[in-house]
Order: sequence, then C-alpha cells, then structure tokens
Amino acid sequence: MNSFVPQNQSDGAHVSRETAPWGDTDLDVMAPPPGIDVEVDTPIARAARAAMTVRGHGDDTWPRPAECRIMSVANQKGGVGKTTTTVNIAVSLAMHGNRVLVVDLDPQGNASTALGMERGADSRSIYHCLVEDESIRDLARPVPDIPGLWCVPATIDLAGAEIELVSLVARESRLKRAFAAYDVSDLDYILIDCPPSLGLLTVNAMVACDEVMIPIQCEYYALEGLGQLLRNVDLVRSHLNPTLDISTILLTMYDGRTRLASQVADEVRGHFGDLVLSTLVPRSVRVSEAPSYGQSVMTYDPGSTGAVAYMEAAREIAHRAKTGARN
Ligand SMILES: Nc1ncnc2c1ncn2[C@@H]1O[C@H](COP(=O)(O)OP(=O)(O)OP(=O)(O)O)[C@@H](O)[C@H]1O
Ligand SMILES: [Mg+2]
Repeated sequence: MNSFVPQNQSDGAHVSRETAPWGDTDLDVMAPPPGIDVEVDTPIARAARAAMTVRGHGDDTWPRPAECRIMSVANQKGGVGKTTTTVNIAVSLAMHGNRVLVVDLDPQGNASTALGMERGADSRSIYHCLVEDESIRDLARPVPDIPGLWCVPATIDLAGAEIELVSLVARESRLKRAFAAYDVSDLDYILIDCPPSLGLLTVNAMVACDEVMIPIQCEYYALEGLGQLLRNVDLVRSHLNPTLDISTILLTMYDGRTRLASQVADEVRGHFGDLVLSTLVPRSVRVSEAPSYGQSVMTYDPGSTGAVAYMEAAREIAHRAKTGARN
C-alpha cells in the first residue's frame, strides 16, 4: 500500500504508528506534506479521484483507426513495463469505443493474468496457434467486464515454443500467417505483449505487426540494450517486414522526485523526438497492485495517477491513428 507514515511530527495532528492507540491503518489517510505526490488510499479518496478523472475527460469515444493497427510492445530489457503498458493501453482503448485484441506472447503469461484469463493445464493458448496452427478466432477470449476487449492468453507451453519453432516452416512468420487467416477488419487494435528477449517469439511479433511501441523505464541504464533492439527492428524491416516502424515510445515508472528520472526522460526525448508520447507514466503503487486482482489499474483504481496517465497515453495513441474510414 502506498502510505505516508509521518515521522517526528510535533503539531499533534500526526501520530507515529507505534503510539497510535488503534494501532492500524488510519495513519494512511493523513495528508502528505506539500510537494510529495502520494496517493491516499481510502474509498472516499478513490471515489473522488475517479470523479475527477471522469469530469476531466468528458469525451467517451476516441477515433477509431481506418485499419486495424497491429502493435508489438517490445523491449528485451526485463521489467520495464511492457505488460503493464499493453494491458492498460488496451483497456483504455476498449473503454473508449475501440475493439482491441491482446495477444500474450510471453510464456510468463502476465498479461493473461492481469486480464483475468483463467488457465488450467489443458488451456488453449497462443502456443497452439504458433505451433499447431489453431486459429486466433478460436483462441481469443472475451476479457471479463471490459466490452470490446479480447485476449489470446499465454500458457507455460509457450516456454518451449522458441525451440519448437526452430524446426517449423516459416518459423518467423507463424503469427503473421495466423493474423492473415483471421479477419482483423472488425478489430481496431491488436497489441502484442512480447517477452524480455529478442528470440523467435519477439521476431514473430515484429513480422506480424506494423508498429513497435517501446516502453522505457526512467531509470539508470534505461537506454542500455536499446541499440540492439533498434538493430533487430532494422533487420526485420529489411528482410521480413518492410513496413515495420517504431511508432511510439512511452516513458514508464517515472519518479518526479528524482533528478535522474527527468534526465533519462530528456535523453530519450533527445534521441527519439516526436516518437515519445508526451504523457509520462508515474511510478504508482496502484499500478503494481492491480494485476494481483486480475485487473488493470483502469478498473482497479480509475482515479489513481497511474490510471490517469495510461488513459492519457492511450488517448495520444488513438489520436495519432489514421482516422476517418470507420468513424
Ligand atoms: N507505473 C508503475 N508504477 C509502479 N509499478 C509498476 C509500474 N509499471 C510497472 N510496474 C511494476 O513493475 C513490474 C514490471 O512491470 P511489467 O511486468 O509491466 O514489466 P515487463 O517489461 O512486462 O516485464 P517482463 O520483462 O518480465 O515481461 C511489475 O511488478 C509491475 O507491476
Ligand atoms: Mg511482461
């Protein structure tokens, strides 16, 4: 929980946790000192934040792209926010009138968990599409409580797919073939959550998509390894998918209190210019709590700073889309 526990206060309004007679979490509702951005966690605070969010963003429907946009969310660095970004952007787009499919291409299955996909030992998953040619249509499942959102889940079988794919025909384009066999014309977005590697699963995503979105964590070493990712995008573009582009960079886990975070953000903007969304996703405990409830932060705490930021980032993405034909 994101709590503010006051220390050494002398004004009587604050009580240390040790001395509080009730000894419990009421301390968490105390207001933080000015300048410290802490999310207060009470039902009333949540409702107030949700109301403010709704009031601030009255337009319910965003533009739909003329054609289905297929985006891979990739960065071979682990833990930079790929899955969190995929899930929350997908939910935001679906909540604003778009029809969205999430493809979980990571054997860890984190996107599937966050979207409430129940999986058992014999569940069908993206593995069966890649290795056994099952159709995406048969594998896509509606995401509970979010109309317009579907997910093709990942199961642990996928861990073996990198090796099994090696001996298959057209091993780099299995996912592309599956999309081609599935009529994507009634979808607005397909978001592919990639694993933290540049192996055959990520190559399949890059061959199947038109755009790559790269989440970059605002931390030291953020740019390390990015050159390798960019070279891979170039390689896939020159050999397998000539229309592939890096369309979007999203800065994640931004901590506005540190100078380092703003230095990293400036450096990324210096490198990538307009590709970087103007929205920064802040580090927010609510974002990290949501998956354990099988939810996105958009539904878990819609007024939290993380949810508002992801909503804004999705709005930017939607407004950058080619619009018109289906509006
Ligand atoms: N804005 C945020 N604020 C706080 N925690 C966050 C935020 N974004 C992501 N996290 C947490 O950071 C961790 C890594 O995020 P996530 O799983 O999205 O990264 P990833 O790039 O998909 O990781 P992997 O490479 O393992 O697939 C998770 O525990 C997630 O809940
Ligand atoms: Mg992930």
